Amino acid sequence: MGSSTRGWFPGADVRRATGTPRVATDQWTEAGAMTDFSAAEEAAMRRALELASTPGVPLGPNPRVGCVLLAPGGATVAEGFHRGAGSPHAEAAALMAAGDRARGTTAVVTLEPCDHTGRTGPCTRALVEAGVARVVFAQPDPNPVAAGGEQALRDAGVDVAFGLLEHEARVVNRAWTFALEHQRPFVTWKFASTLDGRSAAADGTSRWISSLPARTDTHRLRAQCDVMLVGSNTVAVDDPELTVRDEDDQPLPHQPLRAVMGLRELDSDRRILDDQAETVQLRTRDPHQALQSLHGRDRRHVFLEGGPTLAAVFLEAGLVDEVVCYVAPMLLGAGRSAVAELGITTIADARQLCITDVTTLGAGDQANVRITLAPEGDR
Ligand SMILES: NC(=O)c1ccc[n+]([C@@H]2O[C@H](COP(=O)([O-])OP(=O)(O)OC[C@H]3O[C@@H](n4cnc5c(N)ncnc54)[C@H](OP(=O)(O)O)[C@@H]3O)[C@@H](O)[C@H]2O)c1
Repeated sequence: MGSSTRGWFPGADVRRATGTPRVATDQWTEAGAMTDFSAAEEAAMRRALELASTPGVPLGPNPRVGCVLLAPGGATVAEGFHRGAGSPHAEAAALMAAGDRARGTTAVVTLEPCDHTGRTGPCTRALVEAGVARVVFAQPDPNPVAAGGEQALRDAGVDVAFGLLEHEARVVNRAWTFALEHQRPFVTWKFASTLDGRSAAADGTSRWISSLPARTDTHRLRAQCDVMLVGSNTVAVDDPELTVRDEDDQPLPHQPLRAVMGLRELDSDRRILDDQAETVQLRTRDPHQALQSLHGRDRRHVFLEGGPTLAAVFLEAGLVDEVVCYVAPMLLGAGRSAVAELGITTIADARQLCITDVTTLGAGDQANVRITLAPEGDR
């Protein structure tokens, strides 16, 4: 795998500022000494991580963040979390809930407070003006635009410590962290295949290789991404609508962007062009260009659902960061392979992947196996 796939897993390839000594991993300084986070601060950080993960927050370009304000004795004064782009940041929400009681508290936050003015003001200034005495945060902000919060707080005389449960915080914002550190979206390649690795029958038909429970699970995973990407031939052959639906087959209120990659003109009657969600055509065959275009639209996580051609293109470019495969207990004996030619002629050159999860979905004739994998060399 190319170096561009490194660090796919949260916790790898952490960027650190120079100057002020920074905590390397959870609760340990770079010098290897235990830092003095209190038990109350650790419990508050676990709560802040829960708040950051509150269901129902619409996906957007922003990270998910939680904040808990602690009184000097360790009691919780107020809580807050970020509800999506344009709404108050987690720190601001907690400060608003606390009012005057914020003075002298410790703010426990899952992400380094921002130091820039976007749609809302800098959190560093809000924390200082509210009289917060200490800030404990989990993950340094990988966004160069928003970073610098730690230093700004120290300059204003606030006690700052960080790195507490950093790995857990990176997991909450896995794709967002990856996208900012790699300047491109995280790519999950999802496909359905028969036991003999076929993605379609000899006549081109592929509905429905995967069972209903597997398809429902696919919708759950789609909802965690902000782009669904296919090649233009899948649009021509399958005419997918490519929307995210709930268990009652109703479209979710917030739909990921639908993206079609390829040079050809799409027929205007294709379902992907309906008004159920936004659609963009990426008129390129270069996967780097396609991802740059999506990154430029503030997209963080691509769910690659194209056919064997697009899968091979992204694999060859080292641009697949996670693989999700639904295997149906079905044999075809002929038909297209799940992935097109990769230029491999001998077993020693096989692409090796690491299994990170195996789950059986459904039962009886509806049973499918979902295998999740990471590129070799990553965790
Ligand atoms: N089992 C599954 O999970 C699954 C999922 C999706 C599709 N399928 C099946 O896969 C079949 C379609 O396979 P497919 O591989 O043709 O679909 P695809 O990968 O989705 O689309 C291929 C098209 O992508 C465009 N493209 C973009 N970048 C390219 C590049 N670097 N090199 C070559 N082409 C590029 C080309 O269209 P332009 O000529 O417009 O540039 C090409 O024809 C259908 O039978 C469908 O049912 C199965």
